[in-house]
Amino acid sequence: MPSPAPHDRLPLAFGGDYNPEQWPQEVWEEDVRLMREAGVTAVSLGVFSWARLEPRPGEYDWEWLDKVIGLLHTAGISVNLGTPTVVPPAWFYRAHPDALPVTREGVRLAFGSRGAICHSNPDYRAAATTITRVLAERYGNHPAVVLWHVHNEYGAPVLACYCDVCAAAFRDWLRERHDTLDALNQAWGTAFWGQQYGDWEEITPPRATPSVCNPTQQLDYHRFADAQARANFVAERDILHRLSPGVPVTTNFMVAPSQGQTVDYWAWAKEVDLVTNDHYLMTDGRRTHVNLALAADLTRSVAGGGPWLLLEHATSGVNWQPYNPAKRPGEMARNSLGHVARGSEGAMFFQWRQSQSGAEKFHTAMLANSGTENRGWREVTDLGRRIAGLADLRGTRTRGDVAMVWSWDSWWAQSLEWRPSQDLDARERLDAFYEALYDRHLTVDFLPPTGLGDLDPSRYPLLVVPQLYSAPVGVGADLERYVSRGGTLLVSFFSGIVDENDTLHAGAYPGALRDVLGLTVEEFDPLLPGETVSVRGADGSSYTADLWSEVVLPGAGCETVAVFADGRTAGGAALTRHAVGSGAAWYLATRLTGADLAAVVDLALADAGITPVDLPRDVELVVREGESGTFRFAVNHTGGEVKVVLPDGGWAAVPAGGVEVFRDPR
Ligand code: GLA
Ligand code: ZN
Repeated sequence: MPSPAPHDRLPLAFGGDYNPEQWPQEVWEEDVRLMREAGVTAVSLGVFSWARLEPRPGEYDWEWLDKVIGLLHTAGISVNLGTPTVVPPAWFYRAHPDALPVTREGVRLAFGSRGAICHSNPDYRAAATTITRVLAERYGNHPAVVLWHVHNEYGAPVLACYCDVCAAAFRDWLRERHDTLDALNQAWGTAFWGQQYGDWEEITPPRATPSVCNPTQQLDYHRFADAQARANFVAERDILHRLSPGVPVTTNFMVAPSQGQTVDYWAWAKEVDLVTNDHYLMTDGRRTHVNLALAADLTRSVAGGGPWLLLEHATSGVNWQPYNPAKRPGEMARNSLGHVARGSEGAMFFQWRQSQSGAEKFHTAMLANSGTENRGWREVTDLGRRIAGLADLRGTRTRGDVAMVWSWDSWWAQSLEWRPSQDLDARERLDAFYEALYDRHLTVDFLPPTGLGDLDPSRYPLLVVPQLYSAPVGVGADLERYVSRGGTLLVSFFSGIVDENDTLHAGAYPGALRDVLGLTVEEFDPLLPGETVSVRGADGSSYTADLWSEVVLPGAGCETVAVFADGRTAGGAALTRHAVGSGAAWYLATRLTGADLAAVVDLALADAGITPVDLPRDVELVVREGESGTFRFAVNHTGGEVKVVLPDGGWAAVPAGGVEVFRDPR
């Protein structure tokens, strides 16, 4: 299905989710008036409106939505129109209780929340595609509708369902993937614990089992559940493409929530016309602005480097975490513009008007329950003006400095039970390496673990692989090609261990990466909680490591840069460098954090010939460039004014907690 150009009709977006069905009609006119006052250019409408649109099966109430879209259109506000398929109405579940998802433990979840969907259920599919069709027939050519918002955050709050309908669909999916039962038995390693299947019908989802369930079965189920949800997205999208030609279709991603593993956005990004993302700050004691930057970089990356849109973030506190502090003055704009710096074509919020009832009534909004006489409203209207002033940015692209491999599939595999240490955490390593690069003011482009052989070392002198536990054989050869042509590769422990079926690569660890790293690992020796070891560099440097140690046997041409100075693997290599062609592959065999990890990342950066800009910690410098010019975003998360040097040699001040956008003279 050809994708319409996502850009033609989209303004630089500023606005939020708009849920007028929660309010009497009198409020709608006030909403639109205040939206104009705030500089709102777009709203996401109707995301949860199914019950209001179709109060009884087949009986539609369009009047209210006609009115709302008309009001918005008259005010020049564009509509990102939702297909409400994340919340089928009560009557639907009454007629089709089987559409409610079942947990691993066999509990059927109930109606009364949202996202209660079995993605294999044919009645759900039929109802979802019907409401999508009638919506598209009615509004598909409405001039206000510039984007379609399908469903909401696929995979949240539940992705997988374990019902019998899913079991049958899983078997079909497995037939496609593995072709024969022999191949499936081989791929899943069913010879272990006598799990061999003699008939497809014997296969069930990885429901609750007495001991650990076959990891490959679990992994395939996660992939299957992802594919089922994606198929439902595609079914809606195709209807929209047909009935609403030229209007791009999206669904809001959550590429990097601090928790949870979500779906495989490399695959999802291929199906949408415009990548959009939701991002919320987590109050978990970590540096939230680093997580925000990571999420924005990752969203841009799944969008292929092209423009994307931040569809949701919060004006201030959310209400679903244990503690929900308010954002400090200026923090909202810093968040919003931080996303824009990293490629977002605007900044949208959940939500426009604070709800008076329901589960999210304490979630802050652009327009608070208390009205407009407050700091929140002043900051919202200021931000609206700022975003309007950035209209020229549209279509420019953010420039990444270094590359990092990100694989949802590997992360899922690594997170399964019974690994050498239960504290192994791929996401923790991704965050840690990202943070080290962030602290050097570098912008990261993420890459999937495929096609790396074509990566151009002059474009990306450094490629970081924080923890690619699962790696098909070809990945090693690809990385070797990148390195031999001059790239610098930095790989962290527990990478290249298994193939895509969670089967150990033959021979010594790290199977897929032995050649490029020029070493083998004789045995893993994970550390116990609280246990640390010292690592000593040949240059006299010393670091403290935890979580992991192992016995590394460097091969010919592989230089030991640092050793374990104590602990059970004392004397063995902890950091190595293997020269390959005109490049080098580094390997870090333990877990370093903070300044220690930064020091190792610095070694690799120096080897790659990258000199980071000189700026204080917690100041970002991100560049967007394109036909309309080059824009330099300086985002100052510190409590003091900072000075940034501009390309003409001059400098400019960025106020405490502020953001400045400098446009290069042309
Ligand atoms: C998610 C959802 C929204 C809202 C926000 C805030 O991103 O998409 O509907 O629930 O979280 O909690
Ligand atoms: Zn199901």
